[in-house]
Amino acid sequence: MLSIEMAPGIHWIGVNDRTTDLFEGMWPIQREGVSYNSYAIKDSKHVLVDLAKAFKTDEFIERVNEVFDVGSIDYIIINHTEPDHTGALPILCRLSPQARIKASAKAKEILEDFYGLGDRVDVVTDGEELDIGSRKLVFYSTPLLHWPDTIMTWDPKEGILFSCDAFGGYGALPGAIYDDTCEHLDFYREEALRYYANIVSLFSPVVTKSVERLLGLGLPLRMIAPSHGLVWRKDPLEIVRLYQQWAGLHGTAAEVGVTLLYASMYGNTERYMNAVSQGIAAEGVPVRIFDVARTHSSYILPSVLRYRGVLIGAPTYESGLFPTMVHQLDMIERKKIRNRLTGIFGSRLWSGGAQKEFAALAEGLKWNVVGTREFRGGHGDAFVADGFAFGKEFAQKVKTGG
Ligand code: FEO
Repeated sequence: MLSIEMAPGIHWIGVNDRTTDLFEGMWPIQREGVSYNSYAIKDSKHVLVDLAKAFKTDEFIERVNEVFDVGSIDYIIINHTEPDHTGALPILCRLSPQARIKASAKAKEILEDFYGLGDRVDVVTDGEELDIGSRKLVFYSTPLLHWPDTIMTWDPKEGILFSCDAFGGYGALPGAIYDDTCEHLDFYREEALRYYANIVSLFSPVVTKSVERLLGLGLPLRMIAPSHGLVWRKDPLEIVRLYQQWAGLHGTAAEVGVTLLYASMYGNTERYMNAVSQGIAAEGVPVRIFDVARTHSSYILPSVLRYRGVLIGAPTYESGLFPTMVHQLDMIERKKIRNRLTGIFGSRLWSGGAQKEFAALAEGLKWNVVGTREFRGGHGDAFVADGFAFGKEFAQKVKTGG
């Protein structure tokens, strides 16, 4: 994409990445892609705000040169040091040897560790201003959103908050960069939630505090310009409110609904699961179904974050819980998604053991187990009818809170 002037002197100079398979080496983005949004401010000083991943450096430099010569940079603001935003930094520092990096104290340490560039950094503190000519940029400290180094940069002249990862999302940009010029806004909202669940949700208590502080500042926001995904300008607070809502979901404010996670070796647990889902639907409760052996946790976590109920369907395997289910529950535990209503059903033949292992995992997650079923194989109408009744009963508990 070419650079886009967002306001007088302020240019989006991001790049799309449709090549990387796994964001952070873990989260799939093969189908969705991602953008590394960067911004160039052409004032008396030439300023860049956040950069791009290293393998996109050539393309990124082309974008910079559309706005000002890449050798003429005065300041590079690094809101966050993760290499998807700093990979291009070593080459830019060589092309603009006079450029000073503005970043937090923790970022200075990390930039030294990553690139040996600590001596190029001027540490900025919360509320500090940077005079660049016709405006003074303001830095706000937002540690652990999602690394300890993170800051945001505010342009009071144009009302733009450069928020880096916060308020970002997966999804390469579709030619348009704004929420109000994007044809598929629902896709970007969903990808923002997936990004939140994957990358940010562990720090939800920090998000809540940071958003409260941001709203308390009463900044006259015209745009929220994150480092991934759409720039929000139609209603810039929409994405802030969504983040606030998602941060709340981490605790006890999850919505009525069920994430139905299942695994099945020969179809018995799956047959029961289908009946369970019917029982849940009969209660008018939303249900999302995932085969955990075939679905990356990246796509499962948003549903677990969103819904109050998490129902597990898994057979015993080698006297324990089916291993692919254990993996998914481990990913949920790492994100510390607490206070869910849960239950388990599944097939066993000789020893059993899945339910016992799940009970221990649920205790660690601080989930309330409100229903269990175990069966040997499974056939006939009574088997399916029991699954329907089990699902219905669980959905009723989800509606009433247990
Ligand atoms: Fe987009 Fe935390 O890097």
